[in-house]
Amino acid sequence: MISKSPLPCVRPAGWKLLATLALVLVVMVWYSISREDRYIELFYFPIPGKKEPCLQGEAERIASKLFGNYSREQPVFLQLKDYFWVKTPSAYELPYGTKGSEDLLLRVLAVTSYSIPESIQSLKCRRCVVVGNGHRLRNSSLGEAINKYDVVIRLNSAPVAGYEHDVGSKTTMRLFYPESAHFNPKVEDNPDTLLVMVAFKAMDFHWIESILSDKKRVRKGFWKQPPLIWDVNPKQIRILNPFFMEIAADKLLGLPIQQPYKIKQFPNQAGIEPGPRQ
Ligand SMILES: *[C@@H]1O[C@H](CO)[C@@H](O)[C@H](O)[C@H]1NC(C)=O
Ligand SMILES: *[C@@H]1O[C@H](CO)[C@@H](O)[C@H](O)[C@H]1NC(C)=O
Repeated sequence: MISKSPLPCVRPAGWKLLATLALVLVVMVWYSISREDRYIELFYFPIPGKKEPCLQGEAERIASKLFGNYSREQPVFLQLKDYFWVKTPSAYELPYGTKGSEDLLLRVLAVTSYSIPESIQSLKCRRCVVVGNGHRLRNSSLGEAINKYDVVIRLNSAPVAGYEHDVGSKTTMRLFYPESAHFNPKVEDNPDTLLVMVAFKAMDFHWIESILSDKKRVRKGFWKQPPLIWDVNPKQIRILNPFFMEIAADKLLGLPIQQPYKIKQFPNQAGIEPGPRQ
């Protein structure tokens, strides 16, 4: 186990969804932003030093086979301009859409950003890797191979500090939700790491807004207390387009998206309940 402490995971179904989502990102993310042909390498056991030529249109081909062509219209990160004049309101509530959370979301998007760093945008070929938190990374000496990727995606509070030799030191994006947010992100991430929030419920927008705009903190509505003070640069925060949650759940995991995650209220705390189990 690479973790220093037990992972503050969502319960199994949620975790599976997040991991699948990361894979969806690898296939989808970069080419859908630019609409140009991109080649994204999808693999699990990297071979250090291997340099494949970029196969034009390969990522597009894989993605359209999995998700159809409609996914090309979707931005990876939510943008403020899309919520001023909502052309087609979202069909689903969180985590698969933004229905009912638009007002909260507007306030969050007003203080965060959605851009893709120029250093990545300008690359002709983008090689991406998702680094998990698995035990097998320990003593793997894969750090150097991982650092060679253009885009390194990590999940939740996956530790890096002290494990660089095995997991690498580069983090282009870290996917998180409030309960999984690292209490001290500056220790684990690079100054330019994008912190990509995957919202599961409206409270998640509430939380990030209260942190970034220094409003009264919300303590209820989470199954684990997220940080009350979070030392991050708002310009590094991105909000993942819930569309990618929808396709990860629907196309890859076959979860029933008509019945999204239910929030169960308890007297002092709230739990997030995965939808009906498979
Ligand atoms: C996507 O578009 C391409 C070219 O426009 C087409 O050849 C392909 O069949 C489409 N795929 C799907 C799943 O619609
Ligand atoms: C990693 O290597 C160290 C030193 O060789 C060893 O003590 C440790 O047990 C190893 N850990 C794992 C999980 O293999």
